[in-house]
Amino acid sequence: MAAALAKGLVAAEFCKPAQILAGDPIEASRNSFQSATGSTVAESNSEVIAKSDVIVLAVKPQMMAEVTTELKGDIDHAKLVVSIAAGVPIATFTRTLGGDCRIVRVMPNTPCLVGAGAAAYALGGQATDDDAALVEAMFATVGIAEQVSESLLDAVTGLSGSGPAYGFEMIEALSDGGVAAGLPRETATRLAAQTLLGAAKMVLETGEHPGQLKDAVTSPGGTTIAGLRELETGGLRGVLIDTVLAASRRATELGQS
Ligand SMILES: NC(=O)c1ccc[n+]([C@@H]2O[C@H](COP(=O)([O-])OP(=O)(O)OC[C@H]3O[C@@H](n4cnc5c(N)ncnc54)[C@H](OP(=O)(O)O)[C@@H]3O)[C@@H](O)[C@H]2O)c1
Repeated sequence: MAAALAKGLVAAEFCKPAQILAGDPIEASRNSFQSATGSTVAESNSEVIAKSDVIVLAVKPQMMAEVTTELKGDIDHAKLVVSIAAGVPIATFTRTLGGDCRIVRVMPNTPCLVGAGAAAYALGGQATDDDAALVEAMFATVGIAEQVSESLLDAVTGLSGSGPAYGFEMIEALSDGGVAAGLPRETATRLAAQTLLGAAKMVLETGEHPGQLKDAVTSPGGTTIAGLRELETGGLRGVLIDTVLAASRRATELGQS
C-alpha cells in the first residue's frame, strides 16, 4: 500500500521521488520499494522520522503497536502522523505517542496507484486545518478523499478499503461469463473491466442514482432484464451488503486487538 501511494503521488507530480523516504527492516522490501517508486529508503525507522515532516505509518495493523512503541521518542508535535492501518483507532496512537501528537487516520485503497483511489480520513484532536488540507490534497491527487468522523472508518474499510478485491472478483466472474458465451479470455476480461469502469464513471460524473441509470438501460423483455433477473435470483445485492458488513466487522476486530 505504501508503494502504491508513493508511486501514485510521484506519477501525479504531487511530490518528487527525492521527497519520499521509506523505512523497512528487510533489505529485499526496501529494494523493491526503491525500484517501484524511485525514492530513497532507510533501514532505520528513526532515521526516516528524523528527516521527515509527514510520517505515513503503513505497517500491518498487527505490527502497529511494536512500531509506534519503537518510535515514540522520535515523534513530537512538530511531525504530522498519517496512519493508513485498517482498524487502529486514533486513541491507540495518542496513548503511545502522547496526547499532543498530530494524527490523521486515513483509509485509502490500492487503485491510488493508477490515480483512481478512494480514501476517507478522520482527524485526531491535535490535527490542524492545514493538516486536513494536506492529507486531503495528498489523497485527492491519487483519487478521491472524503473527510468522515472516525467512527465511520471501519465502514469505509469494509467498503472502499477492501473493495478493489470485490471489483476484481466481479471482473473475473463477468469474464468467465463472457468465455462461457464464447468470447476469447483476453477480450472478455478487457470488456468486463471497461464495462465496470464505465458504469462507475457514469455514477460519479452524472450524479444520477445508480438505480435510475440501471432502469435507463433496461428495456422491457430485453437482454438486460434477463441478466438482472439472474442477479436477483443469485442474491447479488444481499451478498455484497453482507460482504461490506463482514469486512467492516473484521476492521473493528483488528482495531480492538
Ligand atoms: N492492501 C490494501 O489494499 C490496503 C488498503 C487500505 C489500507 N491498508 C493498510 O495499509 C497497511 C499496509 O498494508 P499492506 O497490504 O501494504 O501490507 P504489507 O504489504 O504487509 O506492507 C507492510 C509493510 O510494512 C513493512 N514493515 C513491517 N514491519 C516494519 C517495521 N517494523 N518498520 C518498518 N516497516 C515495516 C513490511 O515489510 P516486510 O514485508 O519487509 O516485512 C511491508 O513492506 C495496513 O495497515 C493495511 O491495513 C491496506
